Amino acid sequence: MLIRYRNRKDLRPSEITPRSAYMNRRDLMAKAAGFGAGAALASGAALPLSGIPVEEAQAATLAFHKSEFSTTEPVTAREYVTSYNNYYEFGIDKGDPGQNAHTLTTSPWNVKVEGLVAKPADYALEDFVKPFALEQRIYRHRCVEGWSMVIPWVGFPLSKVLERAEPSGNAKFVAFETLMRPSEMPGQRGLFQPLEWPYVEGLRLDEAMHPLTLLAVGIYDETLPNQNGAPLRLVVPWKYGFKGIKSIVRIKLVENAPPTTWNLQNSNEYGFYSNVNPEVDHPRWSQKTERRIGEGGLLTKRRETLPFNGYADEVASLYTGMDLRKFF
Ligand code: MTE
Repeated sequence: MLIRYRNRKDLRPSEITPRSAYMNRRDLMAKAAGFGAGAALASGAALPLSGIPVEEAQAATLAFHKSEFSTTEPVTAREYVTSYNNYYEFGIDKGDPGQNAHTLTTSPWNVKVEGLVAKPADYALEDFVKPFALEQRIYRHRCVEGWSMVIPWVGFPLSKVLERAEPSGNAKFVAFETLMRPSEMPGQRGLFQPLEWPYVEGLRLDEAMHPLTLLAVGIYDETLPNQNGAPLRLVVPWKYGFKGIKSIVRIKLVENAPPTTWNLQNSNEYGFYSNVNPEVDHPRWSQKTERRIGEGGLLTKRRETLPFNGYADEVASLYTGMDLRKFF
């Protein structure tokens, strides 16, 4: 996004790793084995290109119901979604998270809910998730860099977590924080630190309570791969992808707008709101169009970017009376 942004016309084929090859390369990793009654451990064998079967990394298959909020647009192939990532804790190139994120231990995992709430708590992930029915939400995902995907998330509304915590009257914003663990996150150690750590994000309370705002624990029917933010990440489909903070360990209700990572990095380029808006260009590139990853070849026409990423009917009223050029 910032450090080594390349104004690509498309992905290079070499940047996309077929799942079979990627599974073959990856170390055997034990993932969080499920979230209570809704999950069952699934483990299979992947056939690598050599033809010799290898143990496939374990992932939990999730039980969920389908949501009315899903788009009917074709879903992006899993290979793209799991190999073309932004997760700077594991490197700044798109392929780095898929290569490196297996070093992250995601079990045990704790999530703190704190700040201006009547019921603060430090939850084991299983207890954090257990009360909520999982749903599949197929959402458009638009990165500020000008590409997009359609991803079948599995999760539950963030509003459920906030309601359980009982926010007090002066809580106006929600702050989120990613894990800080340099021993397992190579981007957090060494001489070159691309961002300030830990990665932090924030929403206004009404945005956080909106029914479209999701806490995801899975994609494509299974628990999240590490490169996509295991075991718990935020998904706000009408905002640029960098609002979707990964590997969350803290959710804090606060009175004032909290700091956010990309805004700290460059406040002229990345605002607090970061709603998808084709009318407000990034200072270094247009936001009017986007390339749908996996769609056609180099000559395929870019798609027009829609206000609020196509979710205007649902969310535009949150911003009535606001100058969205000023509050970008
Ligand atoms: N969360 C953390 N902790 N670290 C990151 O570098 N990158 C963000 C967001 N969440 C990022 C993060 C950006 S820029 C985008 S576009 C999305 O994650 C990418 O999500 P994906 O890799 O699942 O497509």
